[in-house]
Amino acid sequence: MSETAAPERAAVLAALDTVVDPKSGKGLASAGLVRGLVLKPERAAFVLEVAADDVALYTPVREAAEKALAAAPGVAKAQVVLTAEAPAAPPAPGVTRVRRGAQVPEDPQARPIPQPGARRPDHVRRLVAVASGKGGVGKSTVAVNLAAALARQGLRVGFLDADVYGPSGPRMLGIDDDPAFVDGKIDPLEAWGLKVMSIGFMIEEGRAMIWRGPMATSAVRQMLHDVRWGTPEEPLDVLVLDLPPGTGDIQLELVQKQKLDGVVVVSTPQEISLIDVRRAVSMFQKTGARLLGLVENMAYFPDPATGTPIPIFGSGGARTEADRLGVPLLAEIPIDVALRQACDDGRPLVATAPDSAPARAFRAAAQAVMAQLKD
Ligand SMILES: Nc1ncnc2c1ncn2[C@@H]1O[C@H](COP(=O)(O)OP(=O)(O)OP(=O)(O)O)[C@@H](O)[C@H]1O
Ligand SMILES: [Mg+2]
Repeated sequence: MSETAAPERAAVLAALDTVVDPKSGKGLASAGLVRGLVLKPERAAFVLEVAADDVALYTPVREAAEKALAAAPGVAKAQVVLTAEAPAAPPAPGVTRVRRGAQVPEDPQARPIPQPGARRPDHVRRLVAVASGKGGVGKSTVAVNLAAALARQGLRVGFLDADVYGPSGPRMLGIDDDPAFVDGKIDPLEAWGLKVMSIGFMIEEGRAMIWRGPMATSAVRQMLHDVRWGTPEEPLDVLVLDLPPGTGDIQLELVQKQKLDGVVVVSTPQEISLIDVRRAVSMFQKTGARLLGLVENMAYFPDPATGTPIPIFGSGGARTEADRLGVPLLAEIPIDVALRQACDDGRPLVATAPDSAPARAFRAAAQAVMAQLKD
């Protein structure tokens, strides 16, 4: 715990009210434009969300707000993120009762076709996402250990915690520091040989981020493109993205606007998890993003006496699914107390116990992933 107190909310809002909202003529706080205000010791940040057409008008306002925030008592570092709200979708043409299997029109804004301008962050050679249909299946555990295993191969690796609603990267990697802003870009933090960025560095652990889609996607976009992941001389070989569960706005942003080189999908053996895998796979496949393979997590529990695998959640489902999809089953990770403990303690098991069974499985998965990305 830091001994320095966080800045006073009232004082910060008063400082922001000295900046005038060009539309309402009121101060920014009074105009209700200060969203998601985060106050940490010596730091303050908030999101200025405006209509897409107003971005140019509010660009100088963002700068003025950042100056006012930096000058507020107790604030040493200030950040104001300007995000544009997407134009509203046209109203649905009426309500129709649908039967299962009937044709339900797709949300046109959600059609996951990659756009021509899709790009990777500067100086990043490969962008690989770790996804799942269902929450809590071990995506972050897999993403952290996969990244650490890639780094062990001597690659330059970044880890982006793109789960802006529930960032777990800082805890799993045991870092929570202030990334520095240098020349308008953020320098990622470093841990376990990885360059790391997470929205969790900006907020208190356990605090919920209640963001609507456009704000969350804008935060991910900034963490991809406003972070100095590599340099022309030392580009990152791979940037691993830990995604939130499901097929929501963040996944769509990635497949529509970013150039994803591959996706690793994590599942547990239960049928309920595999159903969600099919959903996630179907979304990523529509975009042409390459499915690098499945990882079956919590695949079995090794009998403590004999080491014989006990398939607590059933067995064979992920392998059958991988075969059906024509992709490799990259790893079967056992339920392992040391793996759970390592996550909680902020150290990737691959780095601290590289010869343990789960770490060996992660290392083999990392080899298989890189072999495909070389093609
Ligand atoms: N193979 C495993 N053995 C033991 N514990 C595990 C294993 N995999 C994951 N866990 C534990 O399960 C919990 C959930 O894992 P994790 O946070 O990686 O899931 P997630 O899919 O990223 O969740 P979310 O959908 O919330 O992002 C963590 O406490 C983690 O330590
Ligand atoms: Mg997670």
